[in-house]
Amino acid sequence: MIQAFIFDLDGVLTDTAEYHFLAWKQLATQLGIEFSRADNELLKGVDRMGSLELILQLGQKQLSVDEKLKLAEQKNTEYLKLVERMSPADLFPGVLPLFSSLKAAGVKTALASASKNAALVLQKLCIPALFDYVADSNLIKNGKPDPEIFLTCAQALGVAPERCIGVEDAPAGVTAIKAAGMYALGIGEPHALTQADLVIPAVSALDQPLLTKLLTL
Ligand code: G6P
Ligand code: MG
Repeated sequence: MIQAFIFDLDGVLTDTAEYHFLAWKQLATQLGIEFSRADNELLKGVDRMGSLELILQLGQKQLSVDEKLKLAEQKNTEYLKLVERMSPADLFPGVLPLFSSLKAAGVKTALASASKNAALVLQKLCIPALFDYVADSNLIKNGKPDPEIFLTCAQALGVAPERCIGVEDAPAGVTAIKAAGMYALGIGEPHALTQADLVIPAVSALDQPLLTKLLTL
């Protein structure tokens, strides 16, 4: 029986994946680097400096550590401008009913986000209280695709990994879930999340019949 759901944040519970893209796109344009939505898929779930490195690789640019830190800071400032305008209306449809169903079924919930801004986004959405545990990205040494963040959540919840379902929109995140020995529920397109056990287009597709099926895995 499944006893816990561990959720990614950006692109799963709200559309911040789009905000990350817009902020990186602006930076890439400034650097004269072509950066498409397809390129952005590789950045999903990857931490800030890792994402910057991927963009610089695309543009075959080599910069000093100081320059990179400045650019990462600049991207974050742009990202925070978009987050500032967020409200509970930005929560994806179906998230609140899903958490009600999970609570009613006695299933524990955690957040596993690689974002250093996760706590702020949760506040903007007014959902910090939905989670039994929130993985603090500052505690995590190895980012996704390493399983550390998912294993940290499972341990904090007191649930064995094989009794957890991880929910992710990013290939790196799905890899992390599978490496943690959990069931991976992908959000997005099956061709982009080939390692996932099941892919649904959005959290809203996780209706009661599907949830009942997943809980008895
Ligand atoms: C999540 C997003 C990534 C983002 C990372 C770090 O994993 O999917 O796109 O780069 O968080 O976010 P941060 O807010 O710390 O820059
Ligand atoms: Mg994500």
